[in-house]
Amino acid sequence: MDLYEFQARDIFEDGGVPVLSGITATDPAQARAAAEELGFPCVIKAQVKIGGRGKAGGVKLAHSADEAESIAADILGMDIRGHTVHKVMVAQGADIAEEYYFSILLDRAERTHIALCSREGGMDIETLAVERPEALVKYQLDPSIGINDEVARSVLGEAGFTDTDALVPALVSLWNVYSQHDATLVEVNPLVRLADGSIIALDGKVTLDDNAAFRHPDHAALADNSSTDEREVAAQEAGLNYVRLDGQVGIIGNGAGLVMSTLDVVALAGEKYGVRPANFLDIGGGASAEVMAAGLDVILSDPQVKSVFVNVFGGITACDAVASGIIGALDLLGDNASKPIVVRLDGNRVEEGLAILREAHNPLVTIVPTMDQAAEIAAELAA
Ligand SMILES: Nc1ncnc2c1ncn2[C@@H]1O[C@H](COP(=O)(O)OP(=O)(O)OP(=O)(O)O)[C@@H](O)[C@H]1O
Ligand SMILES: [Mg+2]
Repeated sequence: MDLYEFQARDIFEDGGVPVLSGITATDPAQARAAAEELGFPCVIKAQVKIGGRGKAGGVKLAHSADEAESIAADILGMDIRGHTVHKVMVAQGADIAEEYYFSILLDRAERTHIALCSREGGMDIETLAVERPEALVKYQLDPSIGINDEVARSVLGEAGFTDTDALVPALVSLWNVYSQHDATLVEVNPLVRLADGSIIALDGKVTLDDNAAFRHPDHAALADNSSTDEREVAAQEAGLNYVRLDGQVGIIGNGAGLVMSTLDVVALAGEKYGVRPANFLDIGGGASAEVMAAGLDVILSDPQVKSVFVNVFGGITACDAVASGIIGALDLLGDNASKPIVVRLDGNRVEEGLAILREAHNPLVTIVPTMDQAAEIAAELAA
């Protein structure tokens, strides 16, 4: 889960990382009140989960209450690379002397955590990494140590910093935030030195590891469903592993590998019809009628879906149970199920499963023996 800047700011503050005061606002009047409380100059910052806000006009300095209000009115509702701004953060203005870059992230390829550090922050770090890689230090961390004072001094030394005293505690606190919250990314761009020499994290990007959510009941409150697809929210609530895509052929399967392969064959078969997979949906091993119904409901309620391909390999949950699940789901959904469903079953108790489907005589269901043929028919029906 990616966090908004204001959420990262709060987590930083709790973790002892130096930050400036910030107050969120969802309308211009609130932004005005927040600006008056913080004093001037202040900065109005778009809260969207995408980088490059400054360049897009989503970060602006305000010198008066009137200005704060009118800037907030401009930024709220703005579209930043496909993300609509619903909230701004009004932050205290900083008297910046220098801007640095610092991040900690999980490097899956190297199987460790790394720190990235540069004296040249503020700008687009991807550009810096490509154009002047020597200016960006990549430092492998020992996961059993992380960043203590000594490691922080070493990272900063490699990056060419000479005056490290004020920076060291900030880096150590950022590591503590990263490890205590089970984050996979903590990025501060820019980390600034103010005119008075103090260090402040002026921006924050944090990604939390969803696999560790069970250890952090408080993280659930950080989830923001307003900008997530409504079907993804419904699927999540039903405990389904669903990702919406942009095609027309709905897909349900059991097991992530089988579903991925199904996406591939549908994408291939769909080329000549101009159709593509509409989603990824893995109902997992125990496909009861309820799970199947929840899955079919999510997919069938999607207006972009024109046909559905159910591809199941019976294992511990045998094909007859899956077939009963499909028929039960269609009964449960009643008139809400109106799109053609192509079913391919194989594996444990396949004959019994096929018999159940045939005997149900549901006109929406087409039984197809192989995955390739089923993909072809599902694509054709969607077209
Ligand atoms: N509180 C502040 N006071 C003064 N200047 C600020 C403040 N916050 C941001 N700035 C200036 O605006 C620039 C951009 O801000 P910020 O890093 O938050 O946004 P961004 O980098 O455009 O967004 P993103 O990190 O999402 O790409 C900073 O590099 C800094 O120069
Ligand atoms: Mg930034």
